Amino acid sequence: MYVCLCNGFTCRDVRRVIGEGASSVGGVFRACEARPNCGRCKEVIKDYLAEAKAPATAVSAALQPALMAAE
Ligand code: FES
Repeated sequence: MYVCLCNGFTCRDVRRVIGEGASSVGGVFRACEARPNCGRCKEVIKDYLAEAKAPATAVSAALQPALMAAE
């Protein structure tokens, strides 16, 4: 699923660049060779960053539906 419609990158792209070391919203944009435009994707990218930082067992139950909907 597309995360950023302005730049056309997907949840798969976001997870990949986070796995490669992107640790902020700006870092995700840089790694995707994109520039923020409307900013609507910022909160979703933050959710992916939080997911990556949280231990697998600590991912909040409240976060799971949002991430599932984004995929
Ligand atoms: S949706 Fe990502 S900058 Fe607009």
